[in-house]
Amino acid sequence: VDEVRAHLWQDFLRVRGQTDALCALLSPEDQQPQSFADASPTKWHRAHTSWFFETFLLLPAGDAPAHPAYQHLFNSYYDGVGSRHPRPQRGLLTRPGHDEVSAYRAHVDAGIERHLRTCTDAQLTALAPLVRLGLAHEEQHQELIVTDALHLLSHNPLRPALQPLLQPETPSAPAKAPADAAWIEHPGGLVVVGRDLPAFDLVFDNEGPAHKVWLEPFALAGALVTVAALRAFLDAGGYRDPSLWLAAGFDQVQRLGLSAPLYHRRREDDGALLAFTVQGERVLHDDEPLVHLSFFEADALARFLGARLPTEAEWEVVARAFVSDAERARAGVTVVGGALSLLLPPVGGPGFFGVAWQWTQSSYGPYPGFAPAAGVVGEYNGKFMVGQQVLRGSSSYSPRGHGRSTYRNFWPPATRFQAAGLRLCRQL
Ligand SMILES: [Fe+2]
Repeated sequence: VDEVRAHLWQDFLRVRGQTDALCALLSPEDQQPQSFADASPTKWHRAHTSWFFETFLLLPAGDAPAHPAYQHLFNSYYDGVGSRHPRPQRGLLTRPGHDEVSAYRAHVDAGIERHLRTCTDAQLTALAPLVRLGLAHEEQHQELIVTDALHLLSHNPLRPALQPLLQPETPSAPAKAPADAAWIEHPGGLVVVGRDLPAFDLVFDNEGPAHKVWLEPFALAGALVTVAALRAFLDAGGYRDPSLWLAAGFDQVQRLGLSAPLYHRRREDDGALLAFTVQGERVLHDDEPLVHLSFFEADALARFLGARLPTEAEWEVVARAFVSDAERARAGVTVVGGALSLLLPPVGGPGFFGVAWQWTQSSYGPYPGFAPAAGVVGEYNGKFMVGQQVLRGSSSYSPRGHGRSTYRNFWPPATRFQAAGLRLCRQL
């Protein structure tokens, strides 16, 4: 049990430290604005991730609130906790200021340290899964800090880089023609997907229970769809062809006048494809995986390419068999020495984790026998199980090691600001 205590505290320090290191890439001015209703200011993310530990660990243990207003200001969506500040107005909260939020983080860190040190072994059994949930939650917000900051910076005509230097750099020239991705065939049959909750560990409640699914024979692409496919789609007038789109997707295209994925544009003089990235705007190469697609765009591209999106079960059984734990643990971003360190998988590699979230054709719903976690924390996942699509894998903005083969990310199908792409699937 002492080992659990020590590991929890080490993991707590590591994850909280990563948030601070990531936010240090952004100035206090960068951390204030909210560029649209679905994004949040960096400062709010820093406060809200602290609020999570305070609300679900410190206050139930009898601690006094750090500030009487913070329960309202930094509640995201937990109706069982009480009132909250309207989401679209988070950017208007100029106070508390940057330093007061830093002090709030330090206050919460000190509280968690004290409780982990002094709680009984029996209390630790109840506390450990909540600390793990708080850390997984904080890692999810680390990714949102990047995607929200990218959206904010994209509105600046100076086209600033969130981080000019990445390690290693993205490929400087096309290494080869886009990978003619090998197809990974699966015979289908009765498979088990999902995962049950182990003691002292965390999987989100939406990943279980483990259960059986019947699959027809299928083949999943061995690589992600790349920029070359987008170029072909644009050349063929894909954004103007309703036969390629779901109705709700074509509605969005027409309503917003879309002619390319978010952050993407074609340069007038030479037709090069440019994208706004964490490195600022740059020319894309044909063999780079596509990101920042909506579900509708991913679905249309798959149809254009004569294939379809996989179901989440198809994705899971192949990823589980195909990706080693060591490979999965290396995927994603970390901050080292004041710079984002991206361990990008090799060009043309399978890219199940650490490149792009992959849209599936599965609606986000409960697995058979699903029960939300007890208490208000049960609002974490369960109440969103309508009107969204499941994404699998993890992206290059996901914290290192955050992905799992059973992990279920979810977003509404029109969402464009996340680092989401696609992997093709077809029936055998
Ligand atoms: Fe949250």
